[in-house]
Amino acid sequence: MSESGSLLDEFGGLYAGALGKYLTGGGEAPLQDAYELGRQGLTGGSGVLQMVDLHHAALASLLGADKSHLSSEPIVKAGQFFAESMSPFEMTHRAIGEANTALRRLNDTLEEEVQRIALALHDDAGQLMVAVHLSLDEATRELPPQVQAKMTGVKALLALVEERIRDLSHELRPAMLDHLGLVPALEFLAANFGQRAGLHITVESKLHGKLAPKLSLAFYRIVQEALTNVRRHARATKVRISISKKGDIVRCLVADNGVGFDPASTVNSGRPGLGLLGIRERLSALGGKLRIQSAEGRGTRLEITAPLQQVEHADSDTPRRRPSSGA
Ligand SMILES: Nc1ncnc2c1ncn2[C@@H]1O[C@H](COP(=O)(O)OP(=O)(O)OP(=O)(O)O)[C@@H](O)[C@H]1O
Ligand SMILES: [Mg+2]
Repeated sequence: MSESGSLLDEFGGLYAGALGKYLTGGGEAPLQDAYELGRQGLTGGSGVLQMVDLHHAALASLLGADKSHLSSEPIVKAGQFFAESMSPFEMTHRAIGEANTALRRLNDTLEEEVQRIALALHDDAGQLMVAVHLSLDEATRELPPQVQAKMTGVKALLALVEERIRDLSHELRPAMLDHLGLVPALEFLAANFGQRAGLHITVESKLHGKLAPKLSLAFYRIVQEALTNVRRHARATKVRISISKKGDIVRCLVADNGVGFDPASTVNSGRPGLGLLGIRERLSALGGKLRIQSAEGRGTRLEITAPLQQVEHADSDTPRRRPSSGA
């Protein structure tokens, strides 16, 4: 704390020096210094409130303890100076908003693509399978009875392939998510995924009513990734999915009884995965959060929370202040 305090003191001296120049002489050059100091504050990790404190301390030191000399002109000028130093914060704030919007659009595009693949699987592949069944029936009729018996096994296998394709297409973009809501869609996913992965997956819900479509789709995709992770990494036998609502927060837990991991180590690992990152980004676009509780040998528990009411962000915020210099 004292270390950061002394850094701020040094930084505060630079700030007060530049502010003093602006108050006495005005002009564009000290404003450029203000912009640069704000940028340094931002990259050095200062928050907006720290910058405000710094500005007040610098102004107080320049004007002295005797407030009788205060005129409105230096105060107004100091305000301009301060606004200039805040520009990098403002620009970063806006850039984050724009990045979030871009991320949401990307997610929407990916969703459309997934839906297209799901439909192609369901309709095109599904119809081809029906055609294969019909041709096989026709061909089988002309075969000797002992070969016909063998074809029964082939037809049973084909029926399994057909069923698997149908289930996959529903899992990819479950129509029941739109029609029946998140919980039935998760139950369907749990049943199919559990069978394929050899996992016993339970779904418990204390949710009444349906969630907004964007929210249920996000939770569905997140649980899909969480289950994929369990299958790939956890060596678990059981997964418990539970969904509840407290106030205006929806909460979903995905807990497995697998080998667990150290969440901190994945951040610095050489080949970081995209799954957990994707979950965090999806949630950040919804104003939600991911909490991971896991330790080696103790299973993994993902806690996903998001506000029920989605705040629609404007595509572009109204600019509040821009650097007046061409910097
Ligand atoms: N349920 C889990 N059990 C054990 N380890 C897990 C579990 N979930 C995640 N991990 C660990 O966290 C790491 C990061 O997961 P993440 O989903 O981000 O990436 P990935 O699964 O390795 O790759 P990707 O998702 O990009 O295909 C995994 O490599 C794994 O070591
Ligand atoms: Mg993953």
